[in-house]
Amino acid sequence: MAASPQPIYWLGNDTLRVSADLFAENRRRLCKGLKAKDGVVPKSVVVLQGGEQKQRFCTDTDLLFRQESFFHWAFGVTNSDCYGAIDVDSGKSILFVPKLPESYATWMGEIFPKEHFMKKYAVDEVHYTCDIANVLSSMRPATLLTLRGQNTDSGSICREASFEGISGFQVNNTLLHPVIVECRVIKTDMELEVMRYTNRISSEAHKMIMKHVKPGQKEYEMESLFQHYCYNRGGMRHTSYTCICGTGTNSAVLHYGHAGAPNDKTIMDGDMCLFDMGGEYYCYSSDITCSFPANGKFTPDQRAIYEAVLKASRAVMAAIKPGVKWTDMHRLADRVHLEELVKIGIVRGSLEDMLKVHLGAVFMPHGLGHLLGIDVHDVGGYPEGLERTNEPGLKSLRMGRLVEERMVLTVEPGIYFINHLLDQALANPAQSCFINNQVLARFRGFGGVRIEDDIAVTADGIELLTCVPRTVEEIEAFMAASAKPFSPVVDDKPVS
Ligand code: GLY
Ligand code: MN
Ligand code: MN
Repeated sequence: MAASPQPIYWLGNDTLRVSADLFAENRRRLCKGLKAKDGVVPKSVVVLQGGEQKQRFCTDTDLLFRQESFFHWAFGVTNSDCYGAIDVDSGKSILFVPKLPESYATWMGEIFPKEHFMKKYAVDEVHYTCDIANVLSSMRPATLLTLRGQNTDSGSICREASFEGISGFQVNNTLLHPVIVECRVIKTDMELEVMRYTNRISSEAHKMIMKHVKPGQKEYEMESLFQHYCYNRGGMRHTSYTCICGTGTNSAVLHYGHAGAPNDKTIMDGDMCLFDMGGEYYCYSSDITCSFPANGKFTPDQRAIYEAVLKASRAVMAAIKPGVKWTDMHRLADRVHLEELVKIGIVRGSLEDMLKVHLGAVFMPHGLGHLLGIDVHDVGGYPEGLERTNEPGLKSLRMGRLVEERMVLTVEPGIYFINHLLDQALANPAQSCFINNQVLARFRGFGGVRIEDDIAVTADGIELLTCVPRTVEEIEAFMAASAKPFSPVVDDKPVS
């Protein structure tokens, strides 16, 4: 199949041009993986169902559509309510698009012919979804391979393709999922290029916020600035997840920003800010956290905790290479955190003994990091046969496998002062014996620090995708050089 000369996706200006080859290569890799898989018979056809346009509850108001991730990975189609099929033997790709009623032209715009989609998405054939059973049966497939499997982060089962007439086919819904998941774990050069872009734009957006944050503003103003920058400069209509803009004690709320705590506090002088936000371009994610004082100047305690986390981040990044266990990287971060907390005086005693009672998880209850891709918590962290370690902290780690070249991962150590975890630890003699409660008391209400970078694993180490000020000196200098009023309308140039 000839490559499409036009980008399959480009939003003009300085946004990234993505080639349809990205998805052709993904499909090729999938077919290769399936051919090598026991149980996949000749004349198998993959059938994927794309995302459906949904409405707000019982109304006719459309929700903003975002493509289903597996379907996006294979076809790069931005339209809703489509299906895709791939003939595993030949690699032939077939896209099914909805046959739209005439009224669509009135309300939604031009109804494009099938040829338009064939060219736009560089697929071999395009048909209407209403013809899917007839088209597939004309291929005389031995088996349709549909996608059913569990997401190991949410526990949810992905929705298997279904259409009228599917009962007339031989269907296998177990073979495809593990193969496509493995393909998604390993990123191609073209996917890495998109993720470099999402990281570059999101890093710039974080920097812009560091330049403009000041006490007296609302947390949601920072969320709004981030979204504005990512969309305005980067063509990112979606963020990869709900923005977390925690300040003061909220910076210790790991997934702050949800409907019950919607980034609505006023930022105060002396607050630590923990801003965890990532833009998404063409469904590829980024996931970046910057922690810094709202007033631009670290107190000695803020510096101490920040530098403890930075030390863990640097130690982990220096250790990552193909073959290392991700669980060991998590343990390494815990060790560095505890070493530094000893120096600060919050804990004391034998490091090995502290590790035995999982003291690290009192301060970092979440996992060190996770796979990143079309989903922010990308698929494949625990392939079949690999069980989660059921220890505090490690049980929240979203990936348990060995690190491989071309994985994209977040590295996100953090130290938080979460009252109920501190109280639990103090009530547990096995842990409380290590805690100096007098010193700890000073940190109640501190909030937390997370430093989150995105990395791509190379043959012998990592490529750091995120680019933001990280040391205390870099942050203070960057924030000091910036105090000026901000207008999102006029001041929308990239910040250097
Ligand atoms: N932003 C969610 C996470 O860091 O995993
Ligand atoms: Mn994050
Ligand atoms: Mn993350």
